[in-house]
Amino acid sequence: MATTKTTAKSTKSTPAAKSTTTKTTAAKTTAAKSSTTTKAASTSSRGVVKAKASAAEGLKELFVDSLKDIYWAEKALVKALPKMAKNAENENLIAGINNHTTETEEQIARLEQVFQIIGEKAVAKKCEAMDGLLKEGQDIMESTEPGPVRDAGIIAASQKIEHYEIATYGTLCAFAKTLGYDDAAEILHTTLGEEKQADITLTEAAYNTINFDAAEADENEVE
Ligand SMILES: [Fe+2]
Repeated sequence: MATTKTTAKSTKSTPAAKSTTTKTTAAKTTAAKSSTTTKAASTSSRGVVKAKASAAEGLKELFVDSLKDIYWAEKALVKALPKMAKNAENENLIAGINNHTTETEEQIARLEQVFQIIGEKAVAKKCEAMDGLLKEGQDIMESTEPGPVRDAGIIAASQKIEHYEIATYGTLCAFAKTLGYDDAAEILHTTLGEEKQADITLTEAAYNTINFDAAEADENEVE
């Protein structure tokens, strides 16, 4: 105990340690300042978030912004799905992921059609939600060994993604209908149906085999 204290004291007194401490303190102060600035810039004293200069002024603009967001999300997902398939072991799950990769490519093409129908350029805008969901998927794979447990984790991550997409396409359909873009609404509805079906397929894969196989791994560990 005494040795630890002495070491800690001697470390504190070295110039290198001082410099690190100063740097850390400076970094903390800068971070705190920037966080205060961000808060002050985006939120009023009543807690109302201040709009950016580029804020949407009507439902059409909000619709376009949301389309750009899901366009980015689908493009990011189509790159991530093959990695999920490579990490899965259950054949039904692999087939399901591969099938959804093809569907996602078609969904990207459908979104481009929707942009065209409403007279807007197809532009992708980073979707923070999908970015986070994909990072979580990566984290689940890193936290599990290949096999039924990782498969169960891949299903869990994939279903969170599907639920996010179901919510997004549901909203986009409603916006398109309200704005009178019936053809666009129909296209978006097709994708909504695919996302719902993908979610059902994942649930079936989990209930039919994968979750039970993963639970068996617990039993084997106990034995
Ligand atoms: Fe999708």
